[in-house]
Order: sequence, then structure tokens, then C-alpha cells
Amino acid sequence: MEESSEKPRRRPRYAGRNPRNFQDKYKEHQPEKYPDDIRRIVEGGKTPAGMHRPIMVDEVMHVLALSPGETVVDCTLGYGGHASAMLKAIQPGGYFLGVDADPIELPKTEARLRSLVAPAVSIQLRRMNFAGVSNFLATEAPEGVDAVLVDLGCSSMQLDDPTRGFSFKFEGPLDMRMNPNRGVAASELLTSLSPEELEAMLVENSDEPHANRIATAILRTHRKVKIESTLTLANVVRQQMRGLGEEELDRTVRRVFQSLRIVVNEEFQSLDAFLAQIPYLLKKGGRIAMISFHSGEDRRVKGAFKAGFESGHFSSISKEIIRPTLKEQQSNPRSKSAKLRFAIRSATGL
Ligand SMILES: C[S@@+](CC[C@H](N)C(=O)[O-])C[C@H]1O[C@@H](n2cnc3c(N)ncnc32)[C@H](O)[C@@H]1O
Repeated sequence: MEESSEKPRRRPRYAGRNPRNFQDKYKEHQPEKYPDDIRRIVEGGKTPAGMHRPIMVDEVMHVLALSPGETVVDCTLGYGGHASAMLKAIQPGGYFLGVDADPIELPKTEARLRSLVAPAVSIQLRRMNFAGVSNFLATEAPEGVDAVLVDLGCSSMQLDDPTRGFSFKFEGPLDMRMNPNRGVAASELLTSLSPEELEAMLVENSDEPHANRIATAILRTHRKVKIESTLTLANVVRQQMRGLGEEELDRTVRRVFQSLRIVVNEEFQSLDAFLAQIPYLLKKGGRIAMISFHSGEDRRVKGAFKAGFESGHFSSISKEIIRPTLKEQQSNPRSKSAKLRFAIRSATGL
């Protein structure tokens, strides 16, 4: 055997008992190998690195009311938590379709989902924006589907991975693209904005009360030295708004990041395009469940469901928002702002 000149690789060093960096959390990245560690993290109210904890699974499954043999589409696969519950509920004989914009996570999710079922089970996944899901369904389910799920926003894998640039808590490139192969990163977006445009964005996307001051401060800095990292952006906002208390400062930075993320990923345009297609995606009697996380999303979902009800496309829509139980909110703080709505396509008529 030839001797390798490569030095044996050491596990990365980290201070303390447990790794702190996302990439170093090797146990959390292999949940099937370390189930006890994963359970302990989840019981502690945290999300293991590289995972996403699905929200309101029971509530979603209740409103989707799936049966064996049905055809369903999950438009926001993420980690595949909801998808695996849906996939099981439509067996035997069901057809599972899934979509996600993220080219980094989708192959991992596909492997995970396929490992749950026999090779013959029909699964078809596609990396795409759900704004174009009707094109996918035109070939895969031309008669329409029995159920649709949309769980908006980002996955925990995206939020927690500093290299994706979504989080104001970790140093990383100021990117925020769900599909890093398309569009412009948040840092580039800042270069193209006027202070008035940035201010309007902060108001429209996050109801930011200090939009004018923050927009001016961000672009003043960005024009002197380009803001290219997450923590630099967070620090500019913190400096400008330092009179606020620590908690309100955190909320402010969070709102700024959310605003930018929405624009970088054209989230409202995609959502509006998707909402216009819903009645034509569903078979008669078909069900749709949508989870949103902030008022800009929920306003749109609520409006589209109401319009569909008034026009007779939907026979029933949720009267009230469904929220995670207190127990779920405590166990998974990321579920706190989630709002679930549903609609049912009329069985007769339109
Ligand atoms: C909250 S996560 C979904 C989590 C998933 N329900 C689960 O159980 O793991 C949202 C996912 O939607 C994807 N996404 C967001 N907007 C999208 C869009 N317009 N088209 C396709 N995927 C999108 C994101 O990439 C992310 O993976």
C-alpha cells in the first residue's frame, strides 16, 4: 500500500465541551446516528444544527385530512418534516409532489424522504419557486391535487448556517438568497437602493417604526465602506438605535433582516403569483393549508382565501387563525409567530 503524504485530519478544535460553530456540530448534522443528543437538544427548546422542526404538524394534518391514494404537493419542503407526515398519510397508492427553491438543502431532503418509503412509492421533487408550481403540476397532476401545503419563510437550516447570511446572530456574508444561484445578495441589493427605497421597504415589509433613521444610517455606511457581512449590518443598526433597550434592539435588527430577506427573495411577488393559482391547482373538494410568519404574508393569504370564498371557488375557509399550542411555543420558540389558515375548494360549481 502506498503511504499517503496527507496528514490525518483532526476533528476541529473548540473551546468547552460542545462545539459552538454550526459546521462543527457534527452530532447534530447526523441525527440518525446520535438520536439521544438530538432528543436532548429538542427537549431543551432548541433546533439542532442542520435540522428544522416542523410547526403545527397535527393541526396541518387535521385540516388537510389526507387519505391513502391521494395526490398532494408540499410547496415548501424544507427539511421535509411536514412532508414525511403527508407522505405516510397518503400510502398506499398516493403520489407525493414536492417543491423547494433551495438547491443546497433539497438533495438532502429528497434522500431523507426516499429513505422513509419503499422504492416503488411515487415521489417527484423539483427545485423551483412555488410561483411556478402550476407548470410542475401541469405534467405531474393535470387533474389537480387533493391537498397543498405551503409553510412560508426560511428553514432553520438556512437561518442557522452562517454561510447563508440570513442570521444577525452569526458572522457571515450578507447574502440571504434561498437559491444562491439566482438574483442578487443582500449586500448587492443595498448598493442599488436609495434611502427612500430602503425606508419604504422597511415599512412595507416589517412595519419598522424607525425606518427613516435606520435606512439613512445603513446607506451612509454602505456608501463609505460596503456592508458585506451580517454582523456589520447588525452593528450599524445597533449603533444607530443604541438608545433602545436590548430586547427592542434585537427586534429592530430582526425586522431589518426580515425586510431585506423578503426583497432579496422576491417573497411577496412569489406569494402573490402562487395565491392567484390556488383554485386551479386543487381538485374539487381539495384542501390547502398555509402557514405564515408575519403580517405581510398573513394579510395576503387571508385576502386570497376570502376572495376565493366570495367567488365560489372555495366552499370553506378558516374563520380564525390557528396558532401553535402554548406547549409547542414553549418547546419550539420558532413556532411563536406562526399562523395557519386553510381553504377547501368547492366540490361542485366553479
Ligand atoms: C419554513 S421552511 C419549510 C419547512 C418544512 N415545512 C419542514 O417541515 O421542514 C420554508 C421553506 O420554503 C422554501 N421557500 C421559501 N419560499 C419559496 C418559494 N417562493 N418557492 C419555493 N420554495 C420556497 C425555503 O427554501 C424553505 O426551505
